[in-house]
Amino acid sequence: MQTAISANVPGIVAECGGSMACATCHVYVDDAWAGRTGTRSESEEDMLDCAMAEMKDNSRLSCQLRLTEEMDGLVVHIPEEQF
Ligand code: FES
Repeated sequence: MQTAISANVPGIVAECGGSMACATCHVYVDDAWAGRTGTRSESEEDMLDCAMAEMKDNSRLSCQLRLTEEMDGLVVHIPEEQF
């Protein structure tokens, strides 16, 4: 999320600044990256339940993605609505 905000990626609102309290940083991890971004915590799933766009199996809160060198080139898709 921080990387997207720094790069002015449209559609990543991140109203809560990454404290997992808004779900406006919702992204869908591209199928090619499935299983390579870690797993959602129960708290993250609870917040994704409140997201404006449908929660899918590949939904993540981008503020909870910890980027590593192995994730260089990660592709995510942004929902049409964030709030
Ligand atoms: S920035 Fe608010 S939940 Fe991710």
